[in-house]
Amino acid sequence: MSIRTNYEKWYEGDDYYWGLEPGSFLDELISLCPPSENTKVLDIGCGEGKDAVYMAQKGFDVSAFDLTDNGIRKTIRLASDRGVNIKAYVDDINTFVPDDQYDIIYSTGTVQYLFDENKKSFFEKIEKMTKPNGIVFFNVFVEKSFLELPPDWDREEKMWKSGELFTYFADWKIERIDEVIFEDNSGGTPHYHCMDTIICRKVQGAD
Ligand SMILES: C[S@@+](CC[C@H](N)C(=O)[O-])C[C@H]1O[C@@H](n2cnc3c(N)ncnc32)[C@H](O)[C@@H]1O
Repeated sequence: MSIRTNYEKWYEGDDYYWGLEPGSFLDELISLCPPSENTKVLDIGCGEGKDAVYMAQKGFDVSAFDLTDNGIRKTIRLASDRGVNIKAYVDDINTFVPDDQYDIIYSTGTVQYLFDENKKSFFEKIEKMTKPNGIVFFNVFVEKSFLELPPDWDREEKMWKSGELFTYFADWKIERIDEVIFEDNSGGTPHYHCMDTIICRKVQGAD
């Protein structure tokens, strides 16, 4: 069992640490790439599977991975409870090997666990794994000199620079790009996060 992340411990119990409400961005992704036969989705850092299972329920062919055994065990259990099949497995964003091509690749709250030296190759893999006209979604916490580090910040996480995420998709068609500051009460102490989000499409270049 991996002990690299606190999430392994946080996901141990029967309850769902992140709840079961799917990510608010998923319906936007579905509207940009509706499911048809064999529309493939990859959830990177799927946690306990709430989003991956929601996408499977919507008719997508879903694969999902996370660093935690407990997260994957619960993802598989949630899929079974909801009567859908998904391919869920343990893997590491720093070392995973591209296995397929996808219509939608998304990852929420996870790329801050990439080691600096792996960022470039990670996004090269994402480019390779996205089908022509496919959509990707990423978000990441970014640093601002006027915001303090959140009290529950994980020692494995690394804040990104404002706008850095967008530079990896300079030649993609941007569907949405934004940066928001929001209040959070996780850990019992109110604090602020700044988050960059991108949704973009891989469009073939003109010949
Ligand atoms: C903030 S949680 C988000 C979970 C999920 N995407 C959700 O929204 O419910 C971050 C996730 O990243 C996973 N994670 C951390 N380091 C990772 C790594 N190196 N490779 C893959 N997943 C990792 C954690 O186990 C955790 O499930």
